[in-house]
Amino acid sequence: MERTLILLKPDCVQRRLSGKIISRFEDKGLNIVALKMLQVTPELAKQHYAEHVAKPFYPGLEAFITASPVVAMVLEGLEVIRVVREMLGATSGLKATAGTIRGDYSNSRQMNLVHASDGPEAAAREIGLYFKANEVCPYTPCLTPWMKADDE
Ligand code: CMP
Repeated sequence: MERTLILLKPDCVQRRLSGKIISRFEDKGLNIVALKMLQVTPELAKQHYAEHVAKPFYPGLEAFITASPVVAMVLEGLEVIRVVREMLGATSGLKATAGTIRGDYSNSRQMNLVHASDGPEAAAREIGLYFKANEVCPYTPCLTPWMKADDE
């Protein structure tokens, strides 16, 4: 089992799309093992987006991500990092394929609704930024025997 950090960004919360997006992850069969709403501070934004801080678009990205609350989640599942990024589609909603989350709901590169970790190291680092260890609540869903074979 793998874990990934998801942020439903301010545009997602403001557009009342959080429920629809969470449903897509649940419908796919992924486990939500942590979830909370919070206000991202400029300090947290700089830590989260450390690799982008020096880029020209960073000031706009920080202003956007701190403008309104976000919903942070940890999702758990087989190959969940890749699976979720494929569900999201390309970074820009203008380029994302129809049927993906961004392809269906976003027309923007910055306001692309959802952040998802891009690899195992990023996932571990980002989960640690948003959640204390005791805020992650693993469990075995009772539907597990109907979601995948035992040897998968
Ligand atoms: P995210 O997956 O959260 O990771 C970094 C974010 O920066 C990205 O989604 C976009 O919201 C934003 N981003 C990436 N590239 C650009 C860009 N060229 N201009 C503006 N925002 C960008």
